[in-house]
Amino acid sequence: PQVCWLSPEQTAGKQKPYMYTQGQAVLNRSFFPCFDTPSAKFTYSATVKVPEGFTAVMSATSWEKQKDNTFVFKMSQPIPSYLIALVVGDIVSADVGPRSRVWAEPCLIEAAKKEYDGVIEEFLVVGEKLFGPYVWGRYDILFMPPSFPFGGMENPCLTFVTPCLLAGDRSLVDVIIHEISHSWFGNLVTNASWGEFWLNEGFTMYAQRRISTEVYGLPYTCLEAATGRALLRQHMDATGEEHPLNKLRVVIEPGFCLFLGVNPDDTYNETPYEKGFCFVSYLAHLVGNQSKFDAFLQAYVNRFKFQSITADDTLEFFLEYFPELKEKGVDSIPGFEFDRWLNTPGWPPYLPDLSPGQQLMRPADELAELWAADGLNMEAIEAVDITGWRTYQLVYFLDQVLQKSPLPEGNVKRLSKMYPKISKAQNAELRLRWCQIVLKNNLEAEYSKVKDFLQSQGKQKYTLPLYRAMWGGSEATRALAMETFSATAPQLHVNVQNYVKKILGLGGAE
Ligand code: BES
Ligand code: ZN
Repeated sequence: PQVCWLSPEQTAGKQKPYMYTQGQAVLNRSFFPCFDTPSAKFTYSATVKVPEGFTAVMSATSWEKQKDNTFVFKMSQPIPSYLIALVVGDIVSADVGPRSRVWAEPCLIEAAKKEYDGVIEEFLVVGEKLFGPYVWGRYDILFMPPSFPFGGMENPCLTFVTPCLLAGDRSLVDVIIHEISHSWFGNLVTNASWGEFWLNEGFTMYAQRRISTEVYGLPYTCLEAATGRALLRQHMDATGEEHPLNKLRVVIEPGFCLFLGVNPDDTYNETPYEKGFCFVSYLAHLVGNQSKFDAFLQAYVNRFKFQSITADDTLEFFLEYFPELKEKGVDSIPGFEFDRWLNTPGWPPYLPDLSPGQQLMRPADELAELWAADGLNMEAIEAVDITGWRTYQLVYFLDQVLQKSPLPEGNVKRLSKMYPKISKAQNAELRLRWCQIVLKNNLEAEYSKVKDFLQSQGKQKYTLPLYRAMWGGSEATRALAMETFSATAPQLHVNVQNYVKKILGLGGAE
């Protein structure tokens, strides 16, 4: 499942085949022999010979092209197996900063350069200021073919991203800030077991929002965090709060036979991200002073860099670093015990205050309220001008509309007509929400948009919610699901294919 071979039709340019690897979580064992656990770190080198007209790139600190289209790579820092990655394709590059370039198929390179020219360095500089030196040398970004199953993958020196990020307005740059944040949390300090995946992702979400706050300010960052909280709410509603995967520490046992145990890939959901973010925010709240907590994070990275650790290591270091908190017994405050955070499924006991985002959220809340009413007050609706709204404000608005759906008969049709900027959006985050609204409201006239969106890309976090919504809907949406899946299945990553099969009752393995 690890090495993906794409035909020319599955690429953006449709001219040449393409291959890529995706190691996380436990796929690299089918790529090369290794101790395929995040608890072991090593350096590597590789020699890759490719046909004329192709370029090879890897997650390596140095590379060199030799004769006969042979590429030699070397990663000189110790990394876990899941961070080794290779792409071979018709790809070219363009500089976007002093230590950054973008890679993409030739037909996308202009758009890729335009999207991120001159902005990457600022994120790196802010990251270094907050968390300490960036040790990986270069930070390059590779735009993948549309079927890439993730928003981004933090392969060291060379982040892989979905081409959906090419929105034309930098509006989805939070994904890049997220992957940059893994340069410290995940790639330098690594979870020793996939059962504690939140150590990678929860700390990275926190670091991402720290960088975002420095660059874009607190109101905007709180707005983005509010959309994250909405995703956590949706996820817990869908799975049930008590689901064993809704703990930060997941029990991953090999099992006694094929049907027991948890596949680490199955822990990829909103809990390690957003509940993990809440736990790190809670630790910051206990400290009560942002610059002291920032200093702790920097000391933490310095203490555990190039190592793989458990949550116990993290929390022990936290209490050592703040002896006055240890003395106060902050690890056992009733209701907020560290043990409860780690081992009890369910909604986070503490939520960080997102009210600084209210100035951006309130207008969206009010507008959603108006659209959910019986007998629309068009005068009030028309008085709200959304032309200047940022993408995440629109996303937040759509999440509110979705929560209130199904709306009274006719309202969504009207909404669609009133805001072509939303219903005809090209931005993937807006398209996802619009499709969810279309399905929840049985707006048959726009069902084709769901199919078009699922045909245009294969990101897991977009694909699965839409199939769940279709399968949980009417006979018509179930038919749409089957029709869409038979048209797109061959393009999807095999993991995503299997998850969709499971949703559709086709005997896959969710
Ligand atoms: N490391 C993850 C992607 C991943 C997780 C791959 C688990 C395989 C198994 C990456 O850093 C990530 O979290 N990507 C997010 C970005 C978002 C949170 C900004 C994604 O793809 O949606
Ligand atoms: Zn991540």
